[in-house]
Amino acid sequence: MRLAMEASPLLLLVSLTLLLATFLQAKAVPSLQDQAGALLAWKATLQSQPAQLQSWSRGNNTSTRPCSWYGIKCRKHQVSHQEVITGISLRGLRLRGDLDALNFTALETLTSVQLSHNKLTGRIPPSIVSLKELRFLLLRRNQIRGPLSPALASLTKLQYLMLQQNELFGEIPRQIGELEGLVKLNLSANHLSGPIPGELGYLNKLSMLDFSSNN
Ligand SMILES: *[C@@H]1O[C@H](CO)[C@@H](O)[C@H](O)[C@H]1NC(C)=O
Ligand SMILES: *[C@@H]1O[C@H](CO)[C@@H](O)[C@H](O)[C@H]1NC(C)=O
Ligand SMILES: *[C@@H]1O[C@H](CO)[C@@H](O)[C@H](O)[C@H]1NC(C)=O
Ligand SMILES: *[C@@H]1O[C@H](CO)[C@@H](O)[C@H](O)[C@H]1NC(C)=O
Repeated sequence: MRLAMEASPLLLLVSLTLLLATFLQAKAVPSLQDQAGALLAWKATLQSQPAQLQSWSRGNNTSTRPCSWYGIKCRKHQVSHQEVITGISLRGLRLRGDLDALNFTALETLTSVQLSHNKLTGRIPPSIVSLKELRFLLLRRNQIRGPLSPALASLTKLQYLMLQQNELFGEIPRQIGELEGLVKLNLSANHLSGPIPGELGYLNKLSMLDFSSNN
């Protein structure tokens, strides 16, 4: 009993330190090197390596410069002032591979993902919910399968959700109606079924909606 009481201030200090460390870790933006690592790891899984992606490499330096890679855009992060990746634009490169292998957790600073007109398969990765700054999700004309996750509602800044001409199935989640900033929503030419959720009526910035060619 006495021992426990003596130990408690130390325990408290240790717990506080741990708590602070967890908090700081949660707040920290991934480093540019970690972000580059996530892109290189994904590149390694692709079944096609278009010439444009030759720039995606570690070069012969230990620190990589992903901001000069093809299709990659960077900007200074507003809070941490470090350079971070904000855009991926790889439209029409006939990329063959699994979208699910892209670790979006490391790329949480993205505001724009443009991967339309490729041959990407797999589902929309669950790690996409990390993209709290995402405004443009453009995946038109790929072979992305699976249901639309209700968790897409956590992409609260989304303005363009363009998923047409894929192989999505299942119902349109009513949580899409929580994406208040949505301007364009195109889900045409998939295999979606079920009702059109009434919650979509809350999307008062929406200027385009296309659910044609589904079930
Ligand atoms: C290697 O690093 C140096 C200095 O850090 C830089 O000037 C140079 O451009 C880098 N080279 C490549 C290929 O990234
Ligand atoms: C490394 O970089 C230097 C100059 O930046 C270049 O001359 C050399 O060819 C590079 N080596 C390789 C293996 O890429
Ligand atoms: C994805 O990236 C995060 C953040 O950099 C990292 O903690 C995690 O281990 C990565 N996941 C995989 C499957 O590589
Ligand atoms: C939605 O996408 C389809 C297929 O790409 C396209 O034909 C259609 O014009 C788009 N809908 C609108 C309203 O722009």
